[in-house]
Amino acid sequence: MRLKSLKLENFRNYESAEIEFSPGINIFIGDNAMGKTNILEAIYVLALTKSTRSGLDTDLIKLDTNKAIITGEVLHDDVLKQYQIELDKFSKRAYINKSQVKKISEYISNFCVTSFLPNDIEIIKGSPSLRRSTLNIQIGSLYNNYLKYMNEYNSILKIRNEYLKRLNINALSDTKYLDVVNQKMIDVSLKIYYFRFYYLSLINDKIEGIFKRLSGLSGLSISYVNNLGVSVYDEEKIKHTLLSKWKNNFNKELMQGMTLYGLHRDDLVFLLNGKDAKVYASQGQQRLIIIAYKIAELLIFKDIKKEYPVFLLDDVFSEIDIKKRNNIIKYLKSEMQVIITTTDIEDIDKDLVESARVYKIKNGQIKINKGGGRNGRRKGTRKL
Ligand SMILES: Nc1ncnc2c1ncn2[C@@H]1O[C@H](COP(=O)(O)OP(=O)(O)OP(=O)(O)O)[C@@H](O)[C@H]1O
Ligand SMILES: [Mg+2]
Repeated sequence: MRLKSLKLENFRNYESAEIEFSPGINIFIGDNAMGKTNILEAIYVLALTKSTRSGLDTDLIKLDTNKAIITGEVLHDDVLKQYQIELDKFSKRAYINKSQVKKISEYISNFCVTSFLPNDIEIIKGSPSLRRSTLNIQIGSLYNNYLKYMNEYNSILKIRNEYLKRLNINALSDTKYLDVVNQKMIDVSLKIYYFRFYYLSLINDKIEGIFKRLSGLSGLSISYVNNLGVSVYDEEKIKHTLLSKWKNNFNKELMQGMTLYGLHRDDLVFLLNGKDAKVYASQGQQRLIIIAYKIAELLIFKDIKKEYPVFLLDDVFSEIDIKKRNNIIKYLKSEMQVIITTTDIEDIDKDLVESARVYKIKNGQIKINKGGGRNGRRKGTRKL
C-alpha cells in the first residue's frame, strides 16, 4: 500500500498544501510548531476518519475557516484510488473515488496505516478506553467483520443500559426482554473475544523479540485483563461467566443503570518482567515498548495481508539513544513506505537520509529539499 499524494485544504495550520510522496522513505524536517505532526495527523485522519489527539473533529479545521478537506491517492494492488475526508462544523463525510461512503466501518479498512504519534505513549499511561480503541483499530484493519461486530456490540450495550434504567425507574420485575438482550450480547461478545485473544496471541508471539532487538531487554508481554477472569478463548467459560456476573450483580447494574460486566470494560496491561510498565518502565522504555507494539502490528499486518501498511513515525528518534535509533531503522524495509518527521536531521541515520525524499516545512509551507527515494533522485535538487 502506497500513499502517492496528499492534498490539504484548511487543515490545521495548512491553508493549502500538496505533497507527492516517495514510495520509500519520506522525511519531513521543520522547527517546532511548523506543521510536521499535522501532516501525519492528516494521513491518519484520511485512513481512520478521526484523529489520535484528544479534542473535537472541528479542531482539525483551520482557525477562521469553515471546511477542511483531506484528499489522498493510494496505490494498492496496482489500482489507484482516491480517498477523501471532508469536515465542516456540523458533519464529516468520507469518499472513495468521489462517492460518499455512508458506513465508516466500510471506509476505514481500505487505506491502512500504522503510526507512532506523540500521544501514543498514552497507550501505556492513559485510560483503558485508549488501549481498547487502539486494539479495535488494529484488529479492524485486518478483519472488516470485526468492526461490524464492535458496532453491533455497542448498539446492544446501549439498548441493555437503557433497558436497565427503565426497569429501575418503573420497578418492573419482568426480565424476559433482558434475557433476550443478554443472549445477543453473549453471541457478539464471543465473536469479538475470539478476535481479541487471537490477535493478542499474535502480538505476544512477536513483541518480546522486537523489544529485545530494540532495547536489549527481554520480558515484555501484554496481558488481556477482563472482569470475567478469562485468560484464553474458552467459549463455555465466557458464556457461563458473563451470565453469572450479570445474575449475581443484577441489583448493582439496576441501581447504576449500566452494564458493569462485558468486554467494554476490558483492558490491556504492558508487562515488563511481570511488572506493569505504566509504573515500572522509564520514559524511554515506555517509548520503546510502544514502538515495539507498533512494529509488531506492522509485521502482523504484513504476515496476514502480504503487504505493509504505510508507516507513520512522528519524531520517533527523539529521547532515544543512537544505538536504539539504529535498531529501529533495521526494521524499516525497502518495500515499506515510511513517513518520518524530525526537528533535527542529525537525529536520523545518514544512510536513511541518503535513500529518502526529504521535505522542509516552514509555517505550513512544504518544499522538497531532496528528491530521493525509489522514484529516483531528482537531478539538480539541493542536498541538505
Ligand atoms: N485548527 C488549527 N488552525 C490553525 N492552526 C492550528 C490548528 N491546530 C493546530 N494549529 C497549529 O499548527 C501548528 C503546527 O502544529 P504541529 O503539531 O504540526 O507542529 P510540529 O511541527 O509537529 O511541532 P513540534 O516539533 O513541536 O512537534 C501549531 O502552531 C498549532 O498551533
Ligand atoms: Mg510535532
